[in-house]
Amino acid sequence: MIVLEIEDIKKLVGKIGFKDFIFKLINTLEEDYSKWETFDKTPRVANHVNDGVIELMPISNDELYSFKYVNGHPKNPMQNKFTVMATGQLSVTKTGEPLMFTEMTILTAIRTAANSALAAKYLAKKDSKILTLIGTGAQSEFQYLAYSYLFDLEEIRYYDTDPKAMDKFEKNMKEFDIKLTRCTNSKEAVKSSDIIIVCTADKRNQTVITKDMIEKDVFISGLGGDCPGKTEIQKELVEKSTVVVEFLEQAKIEGEIQQLSKDFVCTELQELIKKDVVLNVDSHGTILFDSVGFALEDYSVLRLVYDLAKANNIGKQMNLIPEIDDVKDLYSLI
Ligand SMILES: NC(=O)c1ccc[n+]([C@@H]2O[C@H](COP(=O)([O-])OP(=O)(O)OC[C@H]3O[C@@H](n4cnc5c(N)ncnc54)[C@H](O)[C@@H]3O)[C@@H](O)[C@H]2O)c1
Repeated sequence: MIVLEIEDIKKLVGKIGFKDFIFKLINTLEEDYSKWETFDKTPRVANHVNDGVIELMPISNDELYSFKYVNGHPKNPMQNKFTVMATGQLSVTKTGEPLMFTEMTILTAIRTAANSALAAKYLAKKDSKILTLIGTGAQSEFQYLAYSYLFDLEEIRYYDTDPKAMDKFEKNMKEFDIKLTRCTNSKEAVKSSDIIIVCTADKRNQTVITKDMIEKDVFISGLGGDCPGKTEIQKELVEKSTVVVEFLEQAKIEGEIQQLSKDFVCTELQELIKKDVVLNVDSHGTILFDSVGFALEDYSVLRLVYDLAKANNIGKQMNLIPEIDDVKDLYSLI
């Protein structure tokens, strides 16, 4: 069984190159979304605690099984701990044999960025130039980078309630050739924007953006509303928008659409990828990608990382499953 630590993921992404890795991942996501019917899917299992949530995200098809362990504790940064931390495993479906165990805190940020940009590829205006980021925490630079590969961006407008998070974002953005506009509130940040990414963390129903703030048709990627009682977008704006989700059954529990009627139905991202449905801001007005993060995205990044790790000889073989001549003689090991 291969085990991948942070250093291994850094080595692997460094070897492939971040941009190529994102493109490979977008291709892998498209391949897996296209086989949507072949997956055994379930909403994730969530253990809710006072200041956060701990979740298990399983999925499988005939070939591979994967799960991710992930938390969401918005107050963690006050103790200099990440809001979101994750680990994950990939196994062979036929036998249940584990193939790989890996860090997934970084991989979650990468797969969330690739998946958000993938949705924008189908839904946002092709000539989008201004990107807004509300919430400049751990996920933010990854989001910018993935979008910058698909759109000819000229300006990023950004806002965070924590000025230090904006300072950090500015420092990391310095190496890129893009106009940076620091804003003093969400209303100013979304002004004249083509793409709005809302990526805040707070375990309550916030109203980070409202219908009144949106002056023209826009693509919104709502990433931070991902738990019961944790939303970012005003109900009226959700109602006004054409909504696309990852997996409707899970989005109804955790997404912005938890604010709407239980009977609410909308398009899933897989339908766009399979070309069963065609949607775009140009023809349909404001579109909200109400993302909560679905297990298939972790499956895609895990299978890609496993193939690349094997091909590049990265990671450690670890003895986590016994290898003995007579498997009925487990007792012999102790
Ligand atoms: N949809 C997905 O697949 C997915 C994946 C990963 C993370 N997330 C969610 O994305 C969010 C961000 O994750 P992160 O790892 O970047 O967290 P983080 O804690 O590092 O950053 C979140 C930032 O949001 C800011 N913020 C909170 N309320 C705000 C408000 N009203 N206006 C502006 N800024 C505000 C905080 O100051 C913080 O800097 C979390 O809610 C997390 O659960 C979703």
